[in-house]
Amino acid sequence: MSPQPERAVGAPLSRVDGRLKVTGQATYAADHGPEHGIDGIVHAVVVTSGVGRGRITAIDTSAAEAQPGVLKVLSHRNAPTLPYRPNPGSLNLPGERLRVFQDDQIRFHGQPVAAVVATTLEAAQHAAGLVRVDYAAEQPVTDLTGAPANDPAAYARGDADAAFNAAPVRLEMTYRLSRTHHNAMELHATVARWTGARVTVWEKTQWVQSTRDELAAVFGIPATDVRVISPFVGGAFGNAARCWPHTVIAALAAREVGRPVKLVLTRKQLYSGVGFRPAYEYKLRLGSDRDGRLAAMIHDLRAETSRYERFSERGVLSPGQMLYTTPNVSQAYRTVPLDVNTPTPMRGPGYSTAAFPIESAIAELAHELGIDPIELRLRNEPENDQASGLPFSTRRLRECLTAGAREFGWSRRNPEPGQTRDGDWLIGTGVAAAVYDTLRAPAQARVRLNADGTALVESATSDMGPGTYTSMTQIAADALGLAVRAVTFRLGDTILPPAPVHGGSLTMASVGSTVQDGCDKLRLQAIQLAVEDATSPLHGAAPADVVVRDGRLQLKDDPGRGETYRQLLARNNRTHLEADGAYTPARPQSSMYAYGAVFAEVAVDQRLGLVRVRRMLAVYDAGRIISPKLADSQAIGGMVGGISAALLEHTLTDPRDGRITNANLADYLVPVNADVPQLKAIYLDGRDDVADPIGVKGLGEVVLVGVAPAIANAVFHATGRRIRQLPIAIDALL
Ligand code: MOS
Repeated sequence: MSPQPERAVGAPLSRVDGRLKVTGQATYAADHGPEHGIDGIVHAVVVTSGVGRGRITAIDTSAAEAQPGVLKVLSHRNAPTLPYRPNPGSLNLPGERLRVFQDDQIRFHGQPVAAVVATTLEAAQHAAGLVRVDYAAEQPVTDLTGAPANDPAAYARGDADAAFNAAPVRLEMTYRLSRTHHNAMELHATVARWTGARVTVWEKTQWVQSTRDELAAVFGIPATDVRVISPFVGGAFGNAARCWPHTVIAALAAREVGRPVKLVLTRKQLYSGVGFRPAYEYKLRLGSDRDGRLAAMIHDLRAETSRYERFSERGVLSPGQMLYTTPNVSQAYRTVPLDVNTPTPMRGPGYSTAAFPIESAIAELAHELGIDPIELRLRNEPENDQASGLPFSTRRLRECLTAGAREFGWSRRNPEPGQTRDGDWLIGTGVAAAVYDTLRAPAQARVRLNADGTALVESATSDMGPGTYTSMTQIAADALGLAVRAVTFRLGDTILPPAPVHGGSLTMASVGSTVQDGCDKLRLQAIQLAVEDATSPLHGAAPADVVVRDGRLQLKDDPGRGETYRQLLARNNRTHLEADGAYTPARPQSSMYAYGAVFAEVAVDQRLGLVRVRRMLAVYDAGRIISPKLADSQAIGGMVGGISAALLEHTLTDPRDGRITNANLADYLVPVNADVPQLKAIYLDGRDDVADPIGVKGLGEVVLVGVAPAIANAVFHATGRRIRQLPIAIDALL
């Protein structure tokens, strides 16, 4: 077939839904109400545990129930037994998921213990404060250090201990990464309505099918009796990929009171109501020869999980296995059950965690040996993937590093730490590599071309912010030969063709490929109709010679000969044409990853412990860039997230009772504009046709990976002080 002209793909389009968002017309979960046909809505407010471990001895709900407007107070004392069937398909973890209101056990501070349902939000909030809960409290354990661990997940190649012991240069370091929370702008919210035995929920989610399947499992009903609708998501970063307890509470409350229920978690409740990025202790031993060629890496990791589920992230082991040529590797990854709620993936899951120790250690080794850290990385650049033995589909990390060094002015740097000053400020530069898996998953789409020349493309994916609405519209517009404004993309509803979780940077590759497939099929269907139609100017033409531009089918080499979709459909009495798109990833024959190199310049005032990032540059090998403006939005967001992780973010827990002490956006620090300097992202041209039919490798995660170690390496270069913990808070430098 003729390649379609590329006009929308690669163009710096603004979000197609941007106007809806900035004018307040985009409907997030909590915005759904009577104007969407949801009448008689009432409000649920969650009451959470005030102790970190133990059991409930008494609940007094009489004062709450006596308040005007209160319809019901739900707790384990009166909640029905829920089936909670196993649900293996939807991100459920080894262990037992938290079953709301099913027993008197307290597993963590902030666990839901009751919910008040009332006719107004104010009545529900007030009554929630009147619910009295007594506990038999026990001392919770919330600190990773010293707590007993589960058996490790292990990986080994070669003999890492022997190679380490024999290595001429040996480094041994322990890095610590704080627990952090996603803290998206939009709060988690659910509106639930039952119609007979069927339930509809309007939900903040990155995966409508997963929430559907979990609600079906919890309530013991067929998945076909659950509909989940999620047209807009105000940021998520991984914490809306799973169905959390509050969604079950909303659905349960709605069933109990026989009215639609709206439940919005408070900002404070988010800290224990949904997951978080777990704290890690990461011990790394690294042996090399005097030229900086790695002989061995030994990784010992400990990470927190809950006592009721075992959360682990495979991605934390990958960089240690494939990023650098390392003949001998051993890894032991231990999860440590604590009295906390269950962690969950957070942007760049695993990879961004592992990048801090590994990319810091590479810089430490470079300093030890007096070798430039870029040169050291180039010397350890692998020929193939040493973990899988597979060739790389594309791997241009070398180019990311060298192009970035040129653009950043790396060669102007004095390699000696602590030697560059600007007044009272010590100046330093640092670099780190970034890597993230190119994941793909099966996806479907439906494409409909209307008689008026517009198209509707549908898939049950999500858009938590990267711009799925826009990028899918771009793919569809080019494949159908339509203007962007003639195409509507619809997502976020379980009645649409299924799509995978909107996470792991797999949406562009997976949903993009199925949209491409469906639109290609539809275009060919229209071309076939034209060339077989005796009354069409294209009658008798070879389908491969026909392209579509601006809704007009025409000969590639004789554009004057053709007709529009509208003319074709009208003459053939067709109200529309329809096609189904499908994408099933092939079994990987290659090692597929996106790469990047991140450069940072910092200024440090050692007397005050202040670190200011002055500029950052990142160069990415992420395959084809569908949507450059949104790619920049991702890259800048990733760099800001990395500055945040490097210098500010830290969830603090009071060890006495397991209470999170900074569960609000005043005390949980995130960067403001003054913390964020000029940020620049460069994308290497090209595509990865091995990865998927549209040549993309995923971008949303890799842009966070490598930022924190680049900053830590710059802090070392500025000060000569190596900080092996995140965040590098003020007190670390005093
Ligand atoms: Mo991302 S942590 O896969 O939403």
